[in-house]
Amino acid sequence: MKIAVVGTGYVGLVSGTCFAESGNEVTCVDIDVKKVEKLKSGKITIYEPGLEKFFIRNLEEGRLKFTTSLEEGVKDARLVFLALPTPPGEDGSADLKYVLGVAKDLGQLLQEGDYKVIVDKSTVPVGTGEKVEETILAELKKRNVSNPESLFDVVSNPEFLREGVAVDDFMKPDRVVIGTDSEKARSIMQRLYAPFVRQGNPIIFMDVRSAELTKYAANSLLATKISFMNEIAQMCERLGADVDMVRRGVGSDARIGKRFLFPGIGYGGSCFPKDVQALVKSASQVDYDFKILNAVMKVNQTQKSHLTPKVLEYFNNDLKGKKIALWGLAFKPNTDDIREAPSLVLIDELMAHGAEIIAYDPEAMDNVRDQIGDKISYAGNQYEALEGADALVIATEWNEFRMVECERLKKLMKKPVIFDGRNLFDLEYMRDCNFYYVSIGRETLIPEEK
Ligand SMILES: NC(=O)c1ccc[n+]([C@@H]2O[C@H](COP(=O)([O-])OP(=O)(O)OC[C@H]3O[C@@H](n4cnc5c(N)ncnc54)[C@H](O)[C@@H]3O)[C@@H](O)[C@H]2O)c1
Repeated sequence: MKIAVVGTGYVGLVSGTCFAESGNEVTCVDIDVKKVEKLKSGKITIYEPGLEKFFIRNLEEGRLKFTTSLEEGVKDARLVFLALPTPPGEDGSADLKYVLGVAKDLGQLLQEGDYKVIVDKSTVPVGTGEKVEETILAELKKRNVSNPESLFDVVSNPEFLREGVAVDDFMKPDRVVIGTDSEKARSIMQRLYAPFVRQGNPIIFMDVRSAELTKYAANSLLATKISFMNEIAQMCERLGADVDMVRRGVGSDARIGKRFLFPGIGYGGSCFPKDVQALVKSASQVDYDFKILNAVMKVNQTQKSHLTPKVLEYFNNDLKGKKIALWGLAFKPNTDDIREAPSLVLIDELMAHGAEIIAYDPEAMDNVRDQIGDKISYAGNQYEALEGADALVIATEWNEFRMVECERLKKLMKKPVIFDGRNLFDLEYMRDCNFYYVSIGRETLIPEEK
């Protein structure tokens, strides 16, 4: 099938590449000229494990193309995916200007006799599908196109991929959610997704509004799990319990499940913070106070600042002249995405108290440099960051940080002091190392003087 993907960011590039990988002819459209030029020349614009191989193969085999022209992209396409940003507006609700802007442009491009399925993959509030449809229809009517309703259907197909494992998630989704009331659109979508659900995972068809809400409900429930465990971690610290034990104890209950129960220094990224906020806003617009989600946001805000007072306490409230090594900048491992990353909060807070920061992240340093420049230093590897450091703060659980060797740390650092926001290390190992070790929801280890 011929497919246009409008918006070539994390979701658009992964979706477009994976659709091409299953044999479709895909044109990705983006207004960012530099991005499109880079992609056209065979250079990938995001770090996502496994994506580059598919990207190169499909580009070389001519199934994947890039353009800045919407007209060129959607010409002959049977499906037009919208993978556009829906950032929070000033009041916290999702800003639909990108989605509705492109809908308007599409209304000027659709031609008689060329039926298209317009698929909304962006995360959008309930009712957006109807707005997209109205916007396109209004443009078609201005052009006096006859029978405009027959030229297109608007479908909701929220995306559930996770950055860091996006290719796997896209190629083998747990489920595909499709909101439509059109039989024609339904059968096209079914055909498109059939190669991705060969192992038997479901394509769940529903109405557009339910599909739109499903995405917000999923992300908000996951964010709730994180904030809940972060509150349990707070209780563990106060009551002398170990959150790792509690997590294993509750996670073995099949009704609860083992996944997404890890405490830390808060969720970040481009989705959870904005989607929880947008659902709260949607609720208030229909006179409902979404009490749980208000608390989820508040807990997350507090959690991002959880380590700073502990660092301050250790250094008697004076970080002037203290060199802090920071491991991890990305909002989670296996991505270069730093949107709403807890590391950025830590950097601000520690620097406000006079600390000097030297950071290392395997993928996200360029993005941080673009955003905050050289107000922190960047190390060539995780050990270089530790040279002469007064403390190590861990903000992202990259796998390569897990195998730490005590002796090496002791040699590099002024003193082995670790503030671990992701519970990377085994408590007993840290005890054997005789480190000062603070983690989340677990006992603080204080070294015996030797
Ligand atoms: N990132 C994720 O993990 C994820 C997962 C699921 C859903 N989503 C949702 O998918 C949507 C896209 O997210 P993203 O992370 O891919 O965003 P992104 O910012 O990485 O990418 C959006 C792209 O759209 C382009 N764009 C903006 N206006 C355009 C226009 N008029 N025409 C063509 N291109 C235009 C931008 O240049 C950018 O490249 C959002 O609604 C998001 O909530 C994201």
